[in-house]
Amino acid sequence: MNKVLLTADKLTKSFARSKSERFCLWHDVNFEIFEGESMAICGESGSGKSTLLFALGGLESVDSGTVCFCNQMIYHRLNPHVPGISYIFQHYYLIEELSVLENLLIPVRVMGKKVNACVMDRAHRLLLELGLEKFSYQLPKTLSGGERQRVAIGRAFMMNPRLILADEPTGSLDEQTSLRVAQMFFSICQKFKTSFILVSHNENFAMQTNKYCRLEQGELRRCK
Ligand SMILES: Nc1ncnc2c1ncn2[C@@H]1O[C@H](COP(=O)(O)OP(=O)(O)OP(=O)(O)O)[C@@H](O)[C@H]1O
Ligand SMILES: [Mg+2]
Repeated sequence: MNKVLLTADKLTKSFARSKSERFCLWHDVNFEIFEGESMAICGESGSGKSTLLFALGGLESVDSGTVCFCNQMIYHRLNPHVPGISYIFQHYYLIEELSVLENLLIPVRVMGKKVNACVMDRAHRLLLELGLEKFSYQLPKTLSGGERQRVAIGRAFMMNPRLILADEPTGSLDEQTSLRVAQMFFSICQKFKTSFILVSHNENFAMQTNKYCRLEQGELRRCK
């Protein structure tokens, strides 16, 4: 049986509306993700999906509750680079001055690791997997939106993460491209046995994950 990869236990988050008033964004969020499992979080704009995703990766604080990843507690905001967790965002966040290949190598350099033959092999394999090998030495500005997002997907896989947190990764793409990029993302996650939590407005994508949840009125409800 697969092991538990991430546990969210009684997570609660509120923000200040004014000096005297706070509002509760979500409360009592509990779930588990097993190794290799995927999960989708849907919900209306402003329901707190991105805030929850960032809290799961330790980038956002919570009022109470805990996140446990690979049997270790995640301490919010203390360590923005939790080993084993990678992100993909709606707006790609590529470095425009660097080539596609160099963008893939960013996480390796940020973690202070050597770019050796093994790292280069992985980068080339990912570029091939994502149909980007012909763009390796081009700058991001010369690519389409779908191609840029595929670069961001490749970058997320560079450090061989166990979990990818993806915040509306196809939200800036047209319907056809969005479908193609999402299918590529699902298939590469399956091939590398990488778990992911996907925030998406697209219910068709959400239905393709193991656990489909909705954030509604401050509660995370399981739909599948
Ligand atoms: N630092 C903050 N201080 C106060 N309110 C905040 C802060 N960060 C987020 N919020 C509020 O929390 C709510 C949820 O924001 P969040 O970005 O998580 O929503 P979302 O579900 O991802 O929305 P979208 O689908 O539009 O991306 C919003 O109303 C937002 O204004
Ligand atoms: Mg959001």
